Amino acid sequence: MRSWTKSERLLAESRKHLAGGVASSLRAAARPLPLFFERGAGARLWDADGNEYVDYLLGYGPVILGHCHPAVEEAVVAQMRRGTAFGGQHRGEVELARRITRLVPCAERVCLVSTGSEAVQVALRLCRAFTGRSRVLRFEGHYHGWIDTIHVAAPQDGGGHGPAQAGQSRAAQADVLVAPWNDLDVVERVFAANRGGVAAAICEPVLCNGGVIAPAPGYLEGLQRICHREGALLILDEVITGFRLALGGAQERLGIVPDLCVLGKALGGGFAVSAVAGRADIFAGVADGSVPHLGTFNGGAIGVAAGVATLDVLTGDQGAYARMEAAAERVQRCLEREGRSAGVPAVVNRVGSVFHLFFTDRPALASWRDTLTADSRRMGEFAGALATQGIWVRSNGLWYVSAAHGPQDLADTEVAIAAAMRSVARL
Ligand SMILES: Cc1ncc(COP(=O)(O)O)c(C=O)c1O
Repeated sequence: MRSWTKSERLLAESRKHLAGGVASSLRAAARPLPLFFERGAGARLWDADGNEYVDYLLGYGPVILGHCHPAVEEAVVAQMRRGTAFGGQHRGEVELARRITRLVPCAERVCLVSTGSEAVQVALRLCRAFTGRSRVLRFEGHYHGWIDTIHVAAPQDGGGHGPAQAGQSRAAQADVLVAPWNDLDVVERVFAANRGGVAAAICEPVLCNGGVIAPAPGYLEGLQRICHREGALLILDEVITGFRLALGGAQERLGIVPDLCVLGKALGGGFAVSAVAGRADIFAGVADGSVPHLGTFNGGAIGVAAGVATLDVLTGDQGAYARMEAAAERVQRCLEREGRSAGVPAVVNRVGSVFHLFFTDRPALASWRDTLTADSRRMGEFAGALATQGIWVRSNGLWYVSAAHGPQDLADTEVAIAAAMRSVARL
């Protein structure tokens, strides 16, 4: 039986100093508890009590090559020896931007920042400056970072939306319009009601944060057509899908080229670097200085070095995508099979190497609203049971697979899933 006494002790200590005991609110929901990790290597993690895990949380997505990939480690260490923050230009920035413009279909120009939340703000600002309009259309269940101008609650039936969480500014949200996703009639209605006022529509190209739901055939193209007809721009938030669904992200996989995209997570292979990329004309305001794009850590040398190394490894190993997808499919099949045999009805929505597990009697969950009907309590219990068996997953059911997940990791995962399914069958 695993023990987490050291993590428990560290968490108690942490709560005396760090608000809530964790550095990002979501981590407080980790099951069985917010663990303290000592190290990672490949697809494995070790916690403070010496317990080993196969990792399917992957730092909430970024660790696409596995922990401490030698090429990333070498690039980062080499950069540390040369310096980390110059407050001036360095070649790495050009190298990273060059790779992004080569790999990502919409990318003619790039702006670098540290986090996805910041990158979304740059994208929104660029669209407002370019169109001279201020409203932004976003969609239910999508996540675009935690900043007030975009982090809103889904509208209640028949009513408007409000701040997603306490402490947010209502005023900052005055320009945000929220609609259900995958329905072009709604988009038409929103544009008709806000004619001449909408600068952009923003969405995840695959709704990873709301249940890994793929766009309906023709939906993204239709959304872009309506945007362009109405003089607005389309932003695809590829913070999760970028460099994960393909080297060119969802754009390459789904064959759609937006006006702008937002990149983060996998871009840095586990280090903090994010980007906005897209049409050169939209970036003109940054180029001439009229649109501020600021940040002490923008283009930070360590994140940039990690990004260059990560993209080079992925570019040199194109088979990585097929391997990650096959591994994710194997885990998916196992979850479905073991769920059936334990009498626990489970649905897995998967696109490429990212999937969401739900416990539900429904045969499929095809919209974000559908996903709200799933049994989230059982999902949390399952995540805790998996941790007991040496598998680390996010407690809401969103799993990522890395290029480092190998046969032994997958075999261990299958044994653990069978045991964890049996234990949640008793609930
Ligand atoms: C689609 C999407 N956009 C934006 C963000 C915000 O990125 P960050 O957490 O790096 O600020 C996230 C983070 O999970 C995300 O999933």
